[in-house]
Amino acid sequence: MTNLFNIRRDFTLKTLDESEALPNPIDMFKLWFDEAIKSEVLEPNAMNLATATIDGKPSSRIVLLKQIKPEGFVFFTNYDSKKADQIAANKYCALNFAWHELERQVRIEGTVEKISDEESDSYFEVRPEKSKLGAWASPQSQVIPNRQYLEKLNADFELRFTGKTITRPPNWGGYIVKPYLIEFWQGRKSRLHDRLQYRLLNNEWKIERLAP
Ligand SMILES: Cc1cc2nc3c(=O)[nH]c(=O)nc-3n(C[C@H](O)[C@H](O)[C@H](O)COP(=O)(O)O)c2cc1C
Repeated sequence: MTNLFNIRRDFTLKTLDESEALPNPIDMFKLWFDEAIKSEVLEPNAMNLATATIDGKPSSRIVLLKQIKPEGFVFFTNYDSKKADQIAANKYCALNFAWHELERQVRIEGTVEKISDEESDSYFEVRPEKSKLGAWASPQSQVIPNRQYLEKLNADFELRFTGKTITRPPNWGGYIVKPYLIEFWQGRKSRLHDRLQYRLLNNEWKIERLAP
């Protein structure tokens, strides 16, 4: 087996200087996100979402960023899932984007809340039919007996909606993560990476450099 001790790579692609930091981190995020798209990063909108129970037991999973608003970052999921239970008990969460092709990472910390039903409806409408059915069929995060059980549920919902509009399930919708901290990380040579952190203080974003 490969010796993991010997897997390492030097980061030399880019730099991140204070002079390039836009005053607002959401604008800065959009800039980096556009660069990730242009550079054909694999799954650029895939982000790790970390939530925690009220007593601090963390849990993380990948979800897809579906909207960048001036107030924050929107994703969609099942409102009865494990993540939803944790969010209901503890509004603090963290997001992480790893754009390896650009040797970049963006770390976000914030509070999370549901978006409006109308906004969730707007996104649900543009989803492919099969994904719409999947949202009805999957009791996300629940233990199920086997694969067949899930496929039977899916087939049942397919029948139920034959010739009808597939509406949004009431237990499926969006959340917005409203950040109070965003860090932009650019890999550099010999582990002397660039890290610029934006912290929200009295409604203003303060930019600080962190040691790598
Ligand atoms: C690339 C990728 C994208 C995903 N996107 C979503 C998503 O947007 N929403 C979602 O609920 N789950 C998504 N998942 C599945 C989640 O990682 C996770 O398995 C699911 O949401 C259940 O998490 P929970 O049990 O912690 O609530 C995605 C997984 C991957 C690998």
